[in-house]
Amino acid sequence: MRWQGLIEEHKEWLPVTENTPSLTLQEGNTPLVHLESLSNKWGIDLYVKLEGANPTGSFKDRGMVMAVAKAKEEGKTVLICASTGNTSASAAAYGARAGMRTIVVIPEGRIALGKLAQAKMYGAEILEIKGNFDEALQIVREVGQEAGIALVNSVNPYRLEGQKTIAFEVIDQLGQVPDIFALPVGNAGNISASWKGFTEYAERSGEKRPTLLGVQAAGAAPIVNNKVVENPETVATAIRIGNPASWQLALNALDESNGTILAATDEEILEAYQLLASTEGIFAEPASCASIAGIKKQVESGMLEKGSKVVAVLTGNGLKDPETAISVNQHKALLVPEDMERFWEDLKKGVKI
Ligand code: F0G
Repeated sequence: MRWQGLIEEHKEWLPVTENTPSLTLQEGNTPLVHLESLSNKWGIDLYVKLEGANPTGSFKDRGMVMAVAKAKEEGKTVLICASTGNTSASAAAYGARAGMRTIVVIPEGRIALGKLAQAKMYGAEILEIKGNFDEALQIVREVGQEAGIALVNSVNPYRLEGQKTIAFEVIDQLGQVPDIFALPVGNAGNISASWKGFTEYAERSGEKRPTLLGVQAAGAAPIVNNKVVENPETVATAIRIGNPASWQLALNALDESNGTILAATDEEILEAYQLLASTEGIFAEPASCASIAGIKKQVESGMLEKGSKVVAVLTGNGLKDPETAISVNQHKALLVPEDMERFWEDLKKGVKI
C-alpha cells in the first residue's frame, strides 16, 4: 500500500483529532541502511536512518508536518521560526502547502546555501539577523506569542510529537529496539523527541529502550561542558547553537537511558563526513555526521560493546551544503584540457590521479 504520510501512518501515536487537516508531503518512511564496511571495521552492527530522504531533505519534516497541521487546525495563519537552516526550509515548504504565511529568522551568512535556496523557493519571508541562532530564537519566542501566529521551533510541543515517530520506524525496520541510538545535538529537540518515542513504545510493548549517544560539535557543546556557549562556532552550521532550548529534556533523556553526550571536533566531523560518502556512498550534511564521528570515538575508546546494534540518525542531506563538500575536496582538481591525453594514457596503464 502506498505510504500515506507521517500523520496518517502514525496517527495512533499522535494528537490527531477529526479536525486536524490531512497535511502531507509524504514525509517519514525514510530508509534504514546497513553500513557494511564501517560495521566490519568497527566490530559493531551499524545502521543509518537517512532522514535526508524526507521531502525537504531533513528530519525536520516529521515535526513540522504535525506543527503546521495543528497550527492550521487552531486557526493560525502565520508560521514563524528561528533556524540554522533546515527548520526554515521545512517550515517554508509546509507553510506553502498549507496556504500559510511563513517568516524565518536566520543568522546572516551562516546557513548552508541549499537551505537558503529552499526558504526562498518556498516563498518564506526571510529575516537575516547579525546575531546567532540563540538570538534569533529569542526574537521569535516573543513574536510567537501574538494571536494568529504559530511558533514552529521545537519548543512547540507538536514538533516533538511528530519527531518522535522516528523511534517507531527504526524499531519496525530493524525488527528490534537498537542497543545504541546516536544522533547529533543542537537545540536538543530531536534527542528529546526520539526518547519520547522510544519511551512510549516501551510502555506499550514492554520492550527495552536504547542507550542514547548524543554528539555536539566541540565549538558548540554547551550540554557536554554544562555551560552556555556565547559564541558557538563549528563547520556543522546546523548545530551551531550555544544555549539549547530543550537542554533539560535532553539531560533527562540521557539520564534515563544511561546515555552519553560527547563532543566531536570539526576535524572529526569532516573526517566522518568524507568517510561515509567515500566508503558507503552516503552523502549527509556535516552536522549529521557528528553522530558517526561520535560512534567512531566510542569504538576507539572501547566504550561500545562488540556486536552492538547501533542506529545513527543522518539528520540532513549532504546536498544542502555544497560549499563544505567542495571545500573539503579542494585537492581533487578537475583536469584541464591539456592534461586529458596523458590522463587517458595513464588510465590504460592503471594509474590513478
Ligand atoms: N542535524 C541537522 C541537520 C539539523 O539541522 C539540526 C538542527 C540538528 C541536527 C540538531 O537537532 O536541534 O533537534 O538538536 N537544526 C535546527 C534548524 C536548529 O534550525 O534547522 P536538534
